[in-house]
Amino acid sequence: MGYSSSVYKAAADRLFDRRIKAERDADRRRMAIYEKLPRTKELENQISKCGIKAARAVIKGGNVVSEIEKLRDQNLSMQKELKEILISGGYDENAFEPDYSCKKCGDTGYYEENGKTLVCSCMKQALIACACEELNRTAPLTLSTFDTFSLDYYDKAEDTSIGISPYNQMCKILKYCKSYAENFSKNSESILMKGATGLGKTHLSLAIANEVIKKGFGVIYVSAPSLMQRLEKQYFSRNDDSAINMLLECDLLIVDDLGTEFHGQFSVSQMYNIFNSRMLSNKPLIINTNLTMRELEKIYTERFVSRISGNAQKLDFLGNDIRVRKK
Ligand SMILES: Nc1ncnc2c1ncn2[C@@H]1O[C@H](COP(=O)(O)OP(=O)(O)OP(=O)(O)O)[C@@H](O)[C@H]1O
Ligand SMILES: [Mg+2]
Ligand SMILES: [Zn+2]
Repeated sequence: MGYSSSVYKAAADRLFDRRIKAERDADRRRMAIYEKLPRTKELENQISKCGIKAARAVIKGGNVVSEIEKLRDQNLSMQKELKEILISGGYDENAFEPDYSCKKCGDTGYYEENGKTLVCSCMKQALIACACEELNRTAPLTLSTFDTFSLDYYDKAEDTSIGISPYNQMCKILKYCKSYAENFSKNSESILMKGATGLGKTHLSLAIANEVIKKGFGVIYVSAPSLMQRLEKQYFSRNDDSAINMLLECDLLIVDDLGTEFHGQFSVSQMYNIFNSRMLSNKPLIINTNLTMRELEKIYTERFVSRISGNAQKLDFLGNDIRVRKK
């Protein structure tokens, strides 16, 4: 898939930062270990000298094979001693090596296989994440987190028509959302958040978005009206379709305020296509709405609504408008 050059640059920068950090951390670890276990410094020095001696032996000629074998044995026994000292000092035996995020490519983004240079999956993931971030630039992503979500706003008195208090219901929803974010994967289930205005649907979906983005996944958060605007603009100007591709490709698509967009024929069918192709490829979707299922069916047809709700975990938000309570 093609990305803009700014996305390529952002992804390459991200991997570069990871690599530098892993290498700096390793240097810092080495210094601390040298201080605590001075023998490790001696051993590392001698091991590197072994390499030089081997090179000299080759140049000098004579009985090269036996000389090299001797050096190799010395080297191995020093390596062994080094590992033992590290382990008994409470360190990992590879404590001197950088701990790269991606073991396959050492955070370079590329690896060699059968003489070919290939793009690593971590680079592909960084490209998706950066492309999503570019699309999210105008979204209010950082303000709503799990930490700023409080259960104090919800009444503890049971709602007799449903048999549960708003407080208990929202406890369950909060717990579900936290665990959803924590265990997120590319094939996580979809969520349909329903409920009246001002009950925290946007807040919790942004909290999920924040956590999932931190894990390196590509997340797009968009309100249904702005999604429609973008799709129409793109359709009528026949732009490149990379934004649409990202809606289909991203790891998590969050569509807020479904039902508040202008719902012409075009928007209904476009929305259907996007939701449907994500569902077909098992890619998670979070949809928020303050409409009832009935109202949604009127706009989007029964088939559309039952398809979405059959494929998603439904969360029914309860309580009184928190926008009003907070004032
Ligand atoms: N449990 C909560 N703790 C703290 N703040 C909250 C909580 N729930 C909502 N808020 C805040 O109240 C305001 C309204 O919440 P939010 O936008 O999430 O409601 P909503 O359910 O998405 O409403 P709408 O259906 O109108 O979009 C926001 O500023 C949000 O941060
Ligand atoms: Mg909202
Ligand atoms: Zn990699």
